[in-house]
Amino acid sequence: MKVLNFGSLNIDSVYRVEHIVKPGETVSSKKVNLYPGGKGLNQSIALAKAGISVCQAGSIGKDGAMLLEFCREHGVDTRLIRSVAMQTGNAVIQVSDTGENSIVLFPGANFQNDTDYVKQVLNQFEAGDFLILQNEINCLREMIDLAYERGMKLVLNPSPMNRYILEADLRKITYFIMNEIEGYQITGRMEPEEILKEMSGRFPSSKIVLTLGEKGACYQEGERRAFQDSYKVKAVDTTAAGDTFTGYFLAAIIRGMKIEEALKCASKASSITVSRMGAAVSIPYWQEVFC
Ligand code: RIB
Repeated sequence: MKVLNFGSLNIDSVYRVEHIVKPGETVSSKKVNLYPGGKGLNQSIALAKAGISVCQAGSIGKDGAMLLEFCREHGVDTRLIRSVAMQTGNAVIQVSDTGENSIVLFPGANFQNDTDYVKQVLNQFEAGDFLILQNEINCLREMIDLAYERGMKLVLNPSPMNRYILEADLRKITYFIMNEIEGYQITGRMEPEEILKEMSGRFPSSKIVLTLGEKGACYQEGERRAFQDSYKVKAVDTTAAGDTFTGYFLAAIIRGMKIEEALKCASKASSITVSRMGAAVSIPYWQEVFC
């Protein structure tokens, strides 16, 4: 069984600020760093750090060499990443003293995928292999349809939410891993209980993981439910917390762990991520999660 992550690769410019800038305001940053990021790359790094072999696909520009190098250093298979004549995706991230963030995203090369490339990548995978998707790339609907036709298991982190998610045939998704806001945007329901009920009504064959921030995370598969409390830590930078959760949850499932253990492992890993600066660099190794 192989794991493919067809996702975004971004260069994150992270500005440390006292508070997130308000409209019309100018604030001075105490520190700025360049980090590898993008939801796709972060989730691949989480899987790799959790000991799972993962292949990343996606498009970068000539300025994306540092992302390739970072992936390779962490054992991510980069052979399917392609270079295109467009600037690599990038994100301008403000991180406040309380650890909150705000992100402006420029998709760049992440939106240069096309049908031929998607087919060429998916042709290398078969029934039973995993495909992990987020929503920072184009061709999402095609990827879902083609991977489903091949019998792949689809994992969707519907982030950031926009119309492209709603245009896709979400009945083909095996695992949704999403937060309450995304849950609301898909179902129109605010309460976690109602989100889960609506999701299972609309997508009866999907498994749903709903993260609830400080309130923990829950899992639903038909009548089956599981819940995990969050780990309390001092937040330094919440960037990539959700990506860590997604990567670690899946890693635990692939390792054959029970759902309860997978939720616990994902929650602990993402609590470590928020206690450190940066996106992919802040994701812990398996040994740190189980020390
Ligand atoms: O989820 C965190 C990521 O979102 C950052 O690394 C940034 O690149 C944005 O895509």
